[in-house]
Amino acid sequence: MSRKKIVAGNWKMNMTPSEAVALIETLKPLVANDEVDVVFCVPAIDIIPAQEAAKGTNIQIGAENLYFEEKGAYTGEISPAMLVDAGVKYVIIGHSERREYFAETNETVNKKVKKAFEHGLTPIICCGESLTQREQGITIDWIRQQIKIAFLDVTAEQAKTAVVAYEPIWAIGTGKTATSDQAEEVCAAIRACIGEIYDEATAAAIRIQYGGSVNGGNAAELFAKPDIDGGLVGGASLKPDFGAIVNYNK
Ligand code: PGA
Repeated sequence: MSRKKIVAGNWKMNMTPSEAVALIETLKPLVANDEVDVVFCVPAIDIIPAQEAAKGTNIQIGAENLYFEEKGAYTGEISPAMLVDAGVKYVIIGHSERREYFAETNETVNKKVKKAFEHGLTPIICCGESLTQREQGITIDWIRQQIKIAFLDVTAEQAKTAVVAYEPIWAIGTGKTATSDQAEEVCAAIRACIGEIYDEATAAAIRIQYGGSVNGGNAAELFAKPDIDGGLVGGASLKPDFGAIVNYNK
């Protein structure tokens, strides 16, 4: 089965609304590539102006987080219905920065994943090991646990449409990219784990990204691996280099 590549930018806590519009104007012509799904996951306050700026282009606007309740007394949170109403289709869930600084756990990730699906949003579910875990040789066990909990009570039909982002924590924002073989090894293990939880068809359908210092120079080699279906890109998504990543096949 052939899976469409998906390249998503993760803007993190960067770009004011007016800066967001200017950046989209700059990147618009550089990210035109119909063979790839192109998503800009932006801060919540940038979503609406970003949608407006991206109108008529191949850019889809995504979010960086959501809350797992429908509505109510959760000061400061963004509900799935708010994202849907703002035209969002993709939402990053469980990024390692959210796990580290905002106390997200495998369990809250699972709640958010289920809530996203309930509202027809496609979650980009993040997983990844620390350097210590890699050195201890427990990377695959750790990732399998993250995946198994993230997908608890998620149906096969939902899982088929999910995106998983494998992001080794030691490679994020460090300029230290995993080698394409290291990235492929874990992405293949994630696909095998999905196959165990569900079945071969689900494993074959789900899209798995690599993230961690992806740039225009390394994207083609990473995305050529059989189990890597694109990338989740932080730093380089704020620069013209993002165009080179999206057009890795040109
Ligand atoms: P990076 O970030 O590309 O800057 O390493 C990736 C991410 O955190 O999603």
